Amino acid sequence: MKELRQKIEDEIRERGPIPFSRYMELCLYDPELGYYSRNAAQFGKAGDFYTSSDVHAVFGRLLARQFEEMWRVLGSPDRMTLKELGPGRGLFAQDVLDWSEKKFPDFFRALHYVLVERSSALRERIEQVLSARFESGKVAFGRGDETPEHNPVIVFANEFFDALPFEILSSEGSLRVDTREGHFVETWAPPSPQEMEFLDRYSVHPEPGERLEVSLLAQEEMQVIASTVHRGFFVAIDYGFTREEQLAGRHRGTMKSIRQHSVSANPYEAPGEQDITADVNFTALAAIADRHGMYNHKLQTQSQFLLGIGEVNQFADAFEECRLPQEHAKVALQLKHLVTPAGMGESFHVLVASKGVEKDKVATLAGLEFGAKARVT
Ligand SMILES: C[S@@+](CC[C@H](N)C(=O)[O-])C[C@H]1O[C@@H](n2cnc3c(N)ncnc32)[C@H](O)[C@@H]1O
Repeated sequence: MKELRQKIEDEIRERGPIPFSRYMELCLYDPELGYYSRNAAQFGKAGDFYTSSDVHAVFGRLLARQFEEMWRVLGSPDRMTLKELGPGRGLFAQDVLDWSEKKFPDFFRALHYVLVERSSALRERIEQVLSARFESGKVAFGRGDETPEHNPVIVFANEFFDALPFEILSSEGSLRVDTREGHFVETWAPPSPQEMEFLDRYSVHPEPGERLEVSLLAQEEMQVIASTVHRGFFVAIDYGFTREEQLAGRHRGTMKSIRQHSVSANPYEAPGEQDITADVNFTALAAIADRHGMYNHKLQTQSQFLLGIGEVNQFADAFEECRLPQEHAKVALQLKHLVTPAGMGESFHVLVASKGVEKDKVATLAGLEFGAKARVT
């Protein structure tokens, strides 16, 4: 079988230099050889990176608690869809469903869980992880652009937007990937009107020597989400920033490649074998949500959000199965990793947007009450 590098070089020879987003699309999502399509371990200790659900089930359990509260704010409807975008291996869904069944039976009865996963290799793994849930009809695969029968809906995305292909802009233009003597080389083309508009509205213009990411695909996905939610919530958790932070000189040039838990700035090494990602522009996402009738609540850090949900019962959700002091100590460390600044607590942010729900009621949700940061508009 052809190597991915070869496949990309062939495409460049046929089409000419390709936009960076196309290069990234092939590296991550080529149906046979892309990073997320291969049957390999990307997640967890044996893989390349940890996401919150790899750290401990408490992440999904706390979110289950928050989803249940959202369901009550929506008036405890008989049926509610929870749509997860980019669920990976399905661990988060498993934790949410198990905890809801155990702790929130009324909410669990109303819940219909829809998974939107692009990679067929990951869909196969999800089918194994959640086989009993599929059989009982509690869980189904779906598409991002489906409107869930006018049920209220919560759209949830953890580390989804950071994995969407983006463009890279510098003062020289918009990045193109070319090939020369068996190597990928960078060239620059004039930026498109959409790219310029994105910089004007949601970002800053790159200084000489600087690079910035422009994720037009994230904007498209956000538009689809906001227009398919008639009544409900959108919750996105990811590493990211606001425009104010970029204006203050931070979060410029955040693209990175990750392989076996180490980070490199070179996306051209080992295509298909390493993840490529960038920080998420929350100002841009919030603007699209707003344009499509959603209300953006205060952007929280993951720390504020999880502390707000967990403090109600002193994080009992984390420690329920711990019998021995050593077990308790281990879980305390995992929890610490999720909430402290040195772990994932400060770099990860939570954007909650709502539609058709009273704002005052939303503001009392546990995850939004803890800490306040400037509202993203
Ligand atoms: C960084 S992983 C995060 C996985 C999971 N949410 C977690 O936290 O462990 C990104 C996931 O999004 C999926 N993905 C990327 N683009 C997608 C799209 N357009 N539709 C559905 N899933 C997508 C990838 O296949 C991958 O499973």
